[in-house]
Formats: sequence, structure tokens, C-alpha cells
Amino acid sequence: MENKFYITTPIYYASGKPHIGHAFTTIYADILARYHKSLGKEVFFSVGMDEHGAKIAEKAKEENKSPQEFVDEISKSYIDTWSALNIEYSDFIRTTSQKHKETVNEFIKKIYASGDIYEGIYEGLYCVGCEKFLTEKELENGACPDHLTVPQKIKEKNYFFNLKKYLPEIERRIRNKELGIRPESRKNEILNIIDSGISDFSITREKKKVGWGIPFPYDDSQIIYVWADALVNYLSPKDFWPADLHVIGADINKFHAIFWPGLLLSARLPLPKNIFVHGLFTINGQKISKTVGNIIDPLDMIEKFGVDATRYLLLSQFPASEHGDIKETGFEVKYNADLANGIGNLFERVFTMIREYKIHLEARLLSRSLASKLEITDKNFKNYMDNFQLFEALREVLLFAKKLDGYITEIQPWVLAKNNDPKLEEVLNYLFSGIEKIIEWLKPFMPEKTKIAKDYAQKIKSGDYPKEKLGLFPRK
Ligand code: MSP
Repeated sequence: MENKFYITTPIYYASGKPHIGHAFTTIYADILARYHKSLGKEVFFSVGMDEHGAKIAEKAKEENKSPQEFVDEISKSYIDTWSALNIEYSDFIRTTSQKHKETVNEFIKKIYASGDIYEGIYEGLYCVGCEKFLTEKELENGACPDHLTVPQKIKEKNYFFNLKKYLPEIERRIRNKELGIRPESRKNEILNIIDSGISDFSITREKKKVGWGIPFPYDDSQIIYVWADALVNYLSPKDFWPADLHVIGADINKFHAIFWPGLLLSARLPLPKNIFVHGLFTINGQKISKTVGNIIDPLDMIEKFGVDATRYLLLSQFPASEHGDIKETGFEVKYNADLANGIGNLFERVFTMIREYKIHLEARLLSRSLASKLEITDKNFKNYMDNFQLFEALREVLLFAKKLDGYITEIQPWVLAKNNDPKLEEVLNYLFSGIEKIIEWLKPFMPEKTKIAKDYAQKIKSGDYPKEKLGLFPRK
């Protein structure tokens, strides 16, 4: 398929309800999916749930539920949240589905046939919260730094994947950009891990320790390790593979940029084209955690700010290339500054003037210098979007809106109107074109608000002035 764009989010653990961390990645991917649709591509956007593993089995037990009952409930809460956030996904993949289990089986058989699976004994420290093995070096005061729990000492029979065999090829593909890892800092992180040596990893766990998983077809005592199970979800839309972009958080970079390519090479399948790795954020300076009590439910944000503003507020906090901090009190300030007093107010001002001064908006040619101002922003915007830099793209739009505001203050259209200056027509035509562009740029970020604004602008253009004000972003 020539003109396709296949984009994925991680499939989240069905161990608890979604919070704004999960929402962040999913909105991020949704915006890119919508942007690529607007470019006329055939987009496939997959999301889903990682429903196996020891952590989930433990949680289900705590709640006296069967694991399946438990994951059904959690998955439903994700589906509801994505729908509330206006996430336009093509498929919601669940690892407990029959189709996924078959895909995993087929995949494991390919790797087995390549001779890359061998039996061994794993001895190490396992953090159930992370669903991964940790090294002594990674611990802080003997505990997992993310979950603050002491990892379990594990000694068990596992089957291993011969990752070492593929490391030189993975490195080569990353260096020659056949496998793009962005931003650069995340790519270097991966190259450093490869350089400093990485061992083969288990692709099974003992069934008696982790009952909840897909059986390993070559040994009854084993189930497939949750990561080898989960990554394969990306192959589900067969015709679309390879993915054009995996959007993930920095916590799972190694799994996507080393383990996954290794498994794919062994299965003789093409590698994803790009991985975009965003930073993780803390809330009020602390890791998002139930114990700290700083979890923000995206549904609460939607209730307060509406869907589109929630999407905007999460995306505009910090460049995704870095780790960031989100202050809960900062949302309202930003809402008022950027949306109510920024974009919303600019639109209202311009529309009101057009109506008051009865400006005709028929396809008027802009002066060269005004047209080039629009073109420059358009170029920068597209460049950022094509490089998955959504924060930067948004910043560019906001800056342009500020410039339009500044232009109004400087040129004072009301003075031109008073003096019957013919320049008034051109000025307002320029401002109107600017607003039309802003609407177009913001469309993937705020699909509903931009639709309302576009319809309103359309009416103004046709001379049919709406009675009501636009009132796009009421002040909070
Ligand atoms: N199930 C695995 C992923 C398997 S993909 C084949 C997993 N699940 S998770 O539920 O722990 O989700 C981790 C992801 O959630 C992060 O990579 C990121 O996309 C998102 N986030 C979770 N917390 C976050 C922050 N605090 N900040 C930003 N994103 C966060 O790992």
C-alpha cells in the first residue's frame, strides 16, 4: 500500500483505569492519525489493552474477580475514555482475543523455526509492577524506583530469545535510519544500551508462577512472557504492517527499539519505520501514583474544560522530547491565556469587525508580504507535524495568533474604518485568512471546536452573519 499510514499506541496494562499519562500518548497518536488523514492517506490507527501477566492476575485476585472479568471491566473503562476524548481509532486490540492469540502463536512458531529460542534457567530480580527483570544497578535502596517495591528473586526455567544474534543488525538499521528513533536523545539512549551489552531475554515464564497468559506451544509448563505477547499486537492489521509509527513513552523504549526489532528480524518481518518516544511527566512534581494520590482522571478534565481543551491542555504543557511536570492548577491559567483570551478572543474580535464594517470576503488577493507571513507559519507547522513534534507545531500556531493580535493593535482597523481607508478591506481579509489557517492547523488537535469555528467562518464569508457570538472558549 503506497499511500498508507499505520500508527499505534502502546497497549496499556489492564490493571487499572486510564489516567492522563495514558491519555497523553493516545491523544498524541490520534492527532498524528488525523493529520495524516488530512493529507489524504489511508490511515490505520490501532490502540488496545495488554491483558495478561502476573500483575493483572494479582489485581483480579485482590478484587475477587476472575482475570477475564477483571480485564473486561478495565478495558471498558479505556474504551469509554477514548470515546470521551474523541479518539478516532481503527481497531481496539485486546490480547485476550482469539485473533490475537492466533497471531502470537504464528509469530512464536516463526521465531522457533529460525532456531532463536533456547531453554535456560533465569535467575534474577523481577518487578511485577514493571513486568520486567531489573538489574541490581537499577534498584534504589533495594527497591524498584518506579514502584518502590522490593523485586522478587526468581529462579526458574525459561525459554530465551537469542537477541544477541540480531544486535549488530538492529544497530545498523538504527544508525542508517531504516529504523528511525526520535528524538535523537532517545536514539542515543538505545545505541548506548546496545554498546554496553544487553543479554538475551526470556520469552516465557513458568506457568505455575504466572498462570494468566498464552500457553507456550513447545512446553506445557510455560506461558509466553507478557512482552512477547503484547508487542505482537502491532501485527494484527496484517495488510498495514510495517507500522509507520509507534508512539510510546520513554519507559518502554528498550522493548520497542531493541526487543521488538530483534523478534521481527528473527520472524523475517519488516521493522517499523519510526518510533517516537515521548518523555514522561510527573504531576505536581511527583510520579503519577495511587499512593501519592495525584492521579488525574481524563474524564474529570473533560468535565471541567471540555474535550478539545483537554486535548490541547495535555499536549501544550512541555515539549514531548523532554520529561515534564504538570501542575494541576496550571490548566486553568493556560486555558484562559491560550484559548479564552488567546485564540477564542482573536476569532471573536475579527469576526465582530468584519460584521461591523461590512467587509466583503470574496477571494481577495493578499499583499505579497502578508501572504508570505502565512506561508512561513504554514511551512514551519507542517515541518513540525511531519517530524511528530506536536508541542512545537502548536507553539507555532499560538505564536501566529499572537502576531495577528499584535497586528490588530498596531494597525487599528477602527481608525481605518473611521477614515474610510480602503486598506481596511485588505487588513480584515488578511486577518480572516489567518483565522481560516489557524482553524485548519488546529483541526487534528481540536476537531470539534474547529468544526464549530469553521462553520461560523463559512457563514460570515457568505454574508449570512450569525446572530450569536461564536463563544468558542468561555473564560473559566
Ligand atoms: N503494557 C505495556 C505496553 C505494551 S506495548 C506493546 C505498558 N503499559 S502501561 O500501562 O504501563 O503504559 C505505559 C505507557 O503509558 C507509557 O509508555 C506512556 O505511553 C503512557 N504513560 C504512562 N504514564 C505516563 C506518564 N507519567 N507520562 C507520559 N506518559 C505516560 O507499559
